[in-house]
Amino acid sequence: MKIIKVKDQLEGAKVGLDILKEQIAAGAQTFGLATGSTPVEFYNQVINSDLDFSDKTSINLDEYVGLDGSDEQSYRYFMSQHLFNEKPFKENFLPDGKAADLEAETKHYDSIIDAHPIDFQILGIGHNGHIGFNEPGTPFDSTTHVVDLTESTINANARYFECEADVPKKAVSMGIASIMKSKTIVLMAWGEGKSEAIQAMVEGEITESMPASILQKHDDVIVIVDEAAAKLLK
Ligand code: GLP
Repeated sequence: MKIIKVKDQLEGAKVGLDILKEQIAAGAQTFGLATGSTPVEFYNQVINSDLDFSDKTSINLDEYVGLDGSDEQSYRYFMSQHLFNEKPFKENFLPDGKAADLEAETKHYDSIIDAHPIDFQILGIGHNGHIGFNEPGTPFDSTTHVVDLTESTINANARYFECEADVPKKAVSMGIASIMKSKTIVLMAWGEGKSEAIQAMVEGEITESMPASILQKHDDVIVIVDEAAAKLLK
């Protein structure tokens, strides 16, 4: 893992943009994208750049079960607001959280990932070390699956909803094996609240109880962290 320590989120987003530009210059076509607050400034930087995605493909990590893409809390809506409306892609894939047959949807999503190998994957990290919505205990060999969100993830995401009861309890998430197949992975983390997860991910044991720890085994992972998120690293 390559660790890049930055002063703050803005500097980190600019570093992320530079890496993205290098990847595109090297031929990257398919971009694995994440939601959450972490990549928002990075997406702003992308929007304000001269990069063109009109012949590129995006594949998002996850989507809530039960929310339509037009729902303001859905991840599809989030991506439209924070990136896609300003930077149109050739195609944007997200799991369909309203699919009548969710098991079939997970298989369909795996076939999309297989058909469009991810060149560059953006990740955030949950306080409990989750990546995508792969909660602690998720098998490292998992592909796309339906997830029961943990209490801590529901709490953390409640800030986007009117009340905690409105937060969906399930999601469809790309699996850990799918994420690990990405050629290059850039994980970003800001703030002290992420410092324990970052330390466990970088310096801890590789264990399914800390999903992000598997990234130690990937040969091209760049971790961009601000000083607060890096504070427990040796
Ligand atoms: C959600 C998303 C993750 C994200 C995590 C952290 O659970 N599914 O992809 O990394 O939240 O969110 P934030 O970036 O808001 O801290």
